[in-house]
Amino acid sequence: MSQNSSAEPVLLPTDQELVLKVIPMPGDCNPNGDIFGGWVMAQVDLAGSVVPGRYTKGRMATVAVNEFVFKQPVRVGDILSFFSKVHRIGRTSITVKIEVYAERHFKQGVYAKVTEALLTYVAIDEHGQPREIPKD
Ligand SMILES: CC(C)(COP(=O)(O)OP(=O)(O)OC[C@H]1O[C@@H](n2cnc3c(N)ncnc32)[C@H](O)[C@@H]1OP(=O)(O)O)[C@@H](O)C(=O)NCCC(=O)NCCS
Repeated sequence: MSQNSSAEPVLLPTDQELVLKVIPMPGDCNPNGDIFGGWVMAQVDLAGSVVPGRYTKGRMATVAVNEFVFKQPVRVGDILSFFSKVHRIGRTSITVKIEVYAERHFKQGVYAKVTEALLTYVAIDEHGQPREIPKD
């Protein structure tokens, strides 16, 4: 697995939905000058919630980050595109796959996959307890 930022460009996925686009700013950096991993995780959590929300039709909570891989660094000014699709639908939970692609600053149209993750969201009731995902 390559960790450098000069890996070959990749094509965007055609079997996943674009759920979020965002550009990190200097205030999102770690001491190395790259974007802080926790900032990327927060964006992935937001992006990941979009598709599950369509099914839960109400309150939900993130219950697990099942997998999270930072494949390449993210830099200030990169245009990040978050793609998502359903991985598994359970009784009260939905697990989604999220892939993040960066268009490097001043290199629009050239994409690098920077992060991939698997997150699980649970539909919850007004007491914060799991509830069944509506059938319709
Ligand atoms: C989400 C929460 C209500 C679930 O309660 P719980 O008692 O653990 O519920 P359950 O054990 O019945 O699990 C509920 C569902 O989550 C799934 N789940 C629980 N832990 C999981 C894990 N580590 N990975 C994947 N799925 C998980 C279960 O399989 C179940 O799904 P299913 O009904 O589709 O099979 C509770 O854990 C909670 O409130 N967590 C905090 C949520 C939160 O604050 N998130 C924001 C983070 S700051």
